[in-house]
Amino acid sequence: MSSPITELCDALDTVFQQDPRGTAVPGLLDAYTSAHSDWEFCRHFIEGQYTRNLVRHTENYEMMVLCWGRGQESPVHSHMGQRCWMSVLEGTVEEVHFRRQEEGLGPLIEGSSRNFNKGQTAFINDDIALHLMRGAGGEAAASLHVYSKPFAACLTYDCDTGVESAIPLTYHSVEGVVSGV
Ligand code: SIN
Repeated sequence: MSSPITELCDALDTVFQQDPRGTAVPGLLDAYTSAHSDWEFCRHFIEGQYTRNLVRHTENYEMMVLCWGRGQESPVHSHMGQRCWMSVLEGTVEEVHFRRQEEGLGPLIEGSSRNFNKGQTAFINDDIALHLMRGAGGEAAASLHVYSKPFAACLTYDCDTGVESAIPLTYHSVEGVVSGV
């Protein structure tokens, strides 16, 4: 039986087949996250780190629910040349932009920060900024992320030194089945 989240994925399949830039993605995400709760099979909060919960993975995109426990945040990271959208499902998510020093190494330079509420969608790629994300105000939150194309590793940056590290990106659950961290 079809459900709103399956219908969203089916719509994204069509969008990315026709338009690799995904112009229609923000509208689809806003409409889903402001009105639906059938993503809750991906709602997993654990101690110690935010969870990444895969909904659908195709050659063109992946869609995940990220669950941000109180005080949990991502490292500052890049997006490997890909286009990335985020829309809030629950709570408020804060995004903070950073850029590197011209010479590369040295403390990261903090840019703007913005809070996104349920039903609001953000976009980022590497031309815009590096960023970190977290639940705002120390509260738990959940957000829906679409990356096109998918990527299995990204670069993270130490805020104090600017030193870059490559890290693998893993899933805590895949289509609702808990698989790891
Ligand atoms: C992640 O994918 O783990 C971080 C969240 C994001 O950059 O959208």
